[in-house]
This record gives sequence, structure tokens and C-alpha cells, in this order.
Amino acid sequence: MGRLKGKRAIVTGAASGIGRASALLFAREGAAVLAVDKTRDAVEETAAQIAAAGGRAVAMAADAGDEADVQAYVARALAEFGGLDVVYANAGISGGLVPLFEQTVKHWQEILRVNLIGPFLALKHAGAHMVKQGSGSIVCTASVAGLRANAGGNPYSASKAGIISLVQTAANSFFGSGVRVNAVCPGLIETGMTKPIFDYARGRGTEANLGQLNPLNRYGEPHEIAAMAAFLASDEASYVNGQAIAVDGGLSSTHPFRRPRP
Ligand SMILES: NC(=O)c1ccc[n+]([C@@H]2O[C@H](COP(=O)([O-])OP(=O)(O)OC[C@H]3O[C@@H](n4cnc5c(N)ncnc54)[C@H](O)[C@@H]3O)[C@@H](O)[C@H]2O)c1
Repeated sequence: MGRLKGKRAIVTGAASGIGRASALLFAREGAAVLAVDKTRDAVEETAAQIAAAGGRAVAMAADAGDEADVQAYVARALAEFGGLDVVYANAGISGGLVPLFEQTVKHWQEILRVNLIGPFLALKHAGAHMVKQGSGSIVCTASVAGLRANAGGNPYSASKAGIISLVQTAANSFFGSGVRVNAVCPGLIETGMTKPIFDYARGRGTEANLGQLNPLNRYGEPHEIAAMAAFLASDEASYVNGQAIAVDGGLSSTHPFRRPRP
């Protein structure tokens, strides 16, 4: 406890899943948290849960892929907390699994806008403040889908591969500034985004198969991604920079492999 004591943090996508778990953990670790999401009621519930647990949080409805909204959430954190040390640019959308020949430019643009341009805008507007300050940690949510195929649709996977590249290039854009930039690559985590997958498997009685492709042989939970985000946000990760770290039960360590039946 207390690993983020005194830090001022923003978490986007904080109304659900990984973002809510991270906002709650950041606050438990001592950070003041601006919880941002496009869904007002649910992000207010996140802030209420933090306050009920004795933490400090402010909720804000904003579109993480819109430049004016990103400027507004950075300004709000500075006004509320008097500074900004951490941004977790986590908001994302899956876009579903549309066959490639049916995908439209509009579909691609919306997924790239939220999933990739959103983190870029966080780097641009929060990063400018952090560079002046001479310190800061920006964490983005990429995905194992950005590492190789079959964990999401084409535009989703391309957006997540883009984040992996973005944290590498942005870490260098912040050369010598003291600002660190990293990404987490979650595997299969039970959240709002993956609810249809879990509902389908449970409906068919095949829940035990969820996560069977990784060597831990189970799916993950939002708090397991939040733990990595909190580490990357904290000073414990003071020499971790430009990295995309998989938190996936070992999924990305393996080639496809059919296990012998017992
Ligand atoms: N769940 C998984 O298995 C998994 C795996 C890899 C990566 N991810 C990534 O984790 C991140 C969090 O997703 P999750 O799984 O917790 O899903 P989720 O749907 O539970 O949460 C995503 C949150 O982001 C918000 N959001 C979406 N678009 C937004 C926008 N334009 N502006 C502001 N908020 C917006 C949603 O309202 C929602 O509250 C996403 O970037 C997702 O791509 C998830």
C-alpha cells in the first residue's frame, strides 16, 4: 500500500473492467484519481466506490479520442489536484469481429480514433505538462492482439500494434525529460468488452475452455492488469521505459499447441 502516495493520476475508461479496477487500485495505493469515461453514471460510480473506501477521486465524462476532451481532462486534473504525475490511457473499443471484406473506412477510423489516437492525445497533452515538470509516467493499454493474430479484429489488432510502436517512439520523443511511457498487453480478461465471449461460453457450458490457450490455463481478471499498470505508474518502475509488457498468463510465450488428452 502507498506505492502511489502523493501522485496525481488520470485513468481513462474508468467506468468498467480494467480501467475501474485500476482507478480503485491507484487510489488504494495513495493516488488522487481523475476517473474519465464516456459513460457518466458508471464513472461516477467508480469515483463513489473510491470515496467510500477512503480515497480521493473525481469523475469526468469525456471522449478519450477527442482532442478538446483530452485537453479538458488534463486541465481538470491540474485544477483539481494541482499537478499531474500519471496518466493511464486505457479506454478502448473492440469493434467486434467484422469480416475483412465487409469492413469500412468509417469502422477503421473509429477504432483507430479511440484506441490509438486517444493514447497519442494523452501523450501530447499530459506529456507536455510532465516534460515541463521533469517527471511523469504514462501507461497505455495495448493487447496481445497487437503482438499477433487471432485475439481481435483487423482494425482492433492494428490499433493495439500501433500502441506498442507508439510507446517505443514516444519514450524517445521524451528523451532526457524524466517522463516514462509504457504499455500493458493484456490477454483474455473478463470485462465489459469480453462479456459476449464469456456469456456465450457459459451458455454452452464451455467456460472451462476460456483461457485454455495459455499455460496458466485460465482467463485473467481486471485487478491482474491493474497491478501491472500500478507498478508502471509507480516509482518502483523508475527504469522501465518504452516497453509493452504482456500480462496474459503466458499466452504470448507459446506457439499454438494441442495438448495431449490425459
Ligand atoms: N478485456 C480484455 O480481454 C482485453 C484484452 C486486451 C486489451 N484490452 C483493452 O483494455 C482496455 C480496457 O477495456 P476493458 O476490457 O476493461 O473493457 P470495458 O468495455 O469493460 O471498459 C472499457 C471502458 O472504456 C470506455 N470507453 C470506450 N470508448 C471510450 C471513449 N471514446 N472515451 C472514453 N471512454 C471510452 C467504456 O465506456 C468502458 O467503460 C481497452 O483498451 C481494451 O482494448 C482488453
